[in-house]
Amino acid sequence: MSGTTTVAEVRARKGSAPPLVMVTAYDAPSARIASEAGVDLILVGDSVAMVVLGYADTLQVGVGEIAHHVGAVARARPEAVVVADLPWLSFHLSREDTVRNGATLIRAGAQAVKLEGGRKRIPMVTALLDAEIPVMGHLGLTPQSVHAMGGFKVQGRTDAAAAALLDDAIALSEAGVFALVLEGIPAPLAAQVTEAVPVPTIGIGAGPDCDGQVLVWHDLLGLEERLRPRFVRRYASLREVAVDALVAYGADVRERRFPSAAESYGAGAGPTTGS
Ligand code: KIV
Repeated sequence: MSGTTTVAEVRARKGSAPPLVMVTAYDAPSARIASEAGVDLILVGDSVAMVVLGYADTLQVGVGEIAHHVGAVARARPEAVVVADLPWLSFHLSREDTVRNGATLIRAGAQAVKLEGGRKRIPMVTALLDAEIPVMGHLGLTPQSVHAMGGFKVQGRTDAAAAALLDDAIALSEAGVFALVLEGIPAPLAAQVTEAVPVPTIGIGAGPDCDGQVLVWHDLLGLEERLRPRFVRRYASLREVAVDALVAYGADVRERRFPSAAESYGAGAGPTTGS
């Protein structure tokens, strides 16, 4: 198991200050950085498909890929709770299949799984909880439904859609999810859901009134600059820093300024690595 923070502690933070901080991470160095920065939850999201693996949507990764990244994150032993995304089609076929896939992610090092969707997913949520696997829900702009939604579009904008989302949130919390991601919905609706459910809501593109916020690693740090959704705030420009560093490295190699004598080994006996 990785984190020292527990799912129960996250659940107990409902309504209390300060808000929960969640960030995605997909490998050990990122998990170490997130842990050092004191985040509460690390999400090994299926966004890995888009921001790391270069796909156009999240539908392209399966449980094996997510488990691979969960293992890397967990081996960094972050203090944060590690939540793993159940990818598309890993919780749609049967309760048994869902539990088996959830267990794969727990054995890889996650403390909880997240799944997208409302009331129709409750049998799967219950099956996971029956197998002692904590579940985080995810409503609103659920990227695994990109084709059904007709694109990555803000959800819950009509009265009917907002009411359905509120009902879904209440149903999921009654089923036993310990927290709920609200993605891409109007801020007043997120505030209403947050008021209505007894578990923490964690927003992304859902305004300031959720019990916590989540951002994708590459967006937050400015590693992914091709798209800039309105809800993203960039806290660094690491892509620029990396390009500048590689340009400097390239120039040093081409001008024979790298490596220096101090960065080279002499002849004869001596250490084969290190200084
Ligand atoms: O996969 C992911 O990164 C997510 C967040 C956007 C919540 O589900």
